[in-house]
Amino acid sequence: MAIDTHAHLEMEAFDQDREAVLERAAAAGLTVIITVGTTIPDCEKALALARRYPQVYASVGVHPHEAKDIDAASCEALRRFAAEPKVVALGEIGLDFFYNHSAREVQLGGFAAQLDLAEELDLPVIVHDRDAHAETLALLRERRGRLQGVLHCFSGDTAMAAECVALGYYISVAGPVTYPKADQLRSAVREVPLERLLVETDCPYLAPQSRRGKRNEPAYVIETARRLAELRGMPAPEMEQITAENARRLFAKMGPR
Ligand code: NI
Repeated sequence: MAIDTHAHLEMEAFDQDREAVLERAAAAGLTVIITVGTTIPDCEKALALARRYPQVYASVGVHPHEAKDIDAASCEALRRFAAEPKVVALGEIGLDFFYNHSAREVQLGGFAAQLDLAEELDLPVIVHDRDAHAETLALLRERRGRLQGVLHCFSGDTAMAAECVALGYYISVAGPVTYPKADQLRSAVREVPLERLLVETDCPYLAPQSRRGKRNEPAYVIETARRLAELRGMPAPEMEQITAENARRLFAKMGPR
């Protein structure tokens, strides 16, 4: 009964076998997959998948890599997408100072514009933060109490997780929590209140340890949930259930089960 809160099913990596991927996810017990657009064309594809499959929901946004493409027209497109019943969040949006595919100033402006759009649309945000912890926190702090969301594929430390939680955000745990060297991440997620934890794959990227380096897919979120359950000393099915309930609370447009 797990929910994969962050997949990229619309990406080309799934063009050959998307149906089989969805069947394996259902067989693994997933009830919902949120597929997350990163460009305007990919948001359209994500939306088409959400319309077609009952278990698929969509999030729409422009990724920091493409921040140079954020303008009035793309914001207008996001507004239009967000009006659809199965669009449950704005994202992924944020900052990536590791790759810097867009200039930092451009990323900061694009992130701020989309945070403001989420506030206007009353939708939670899915935040991408890579090597930009301080700048990400600063923008979230400025909007304290006006926005909710999730730090996707969380990569900060215990103190950052605590501040995100205090700001009203959720912490989403992806495949890296299963990697042998991820001790800092495991320490951080051990301290997050249970009611603020989510799990995700970020597929096709970041496969958990048993499939590391291969294409990731939603069914593998179970391995991540299992590792997280171990860390928190609880049975895996209970962790799947708690994180699924958390996802339904944050992404309220999904409605109750
Ligand atoms: Ni992603």
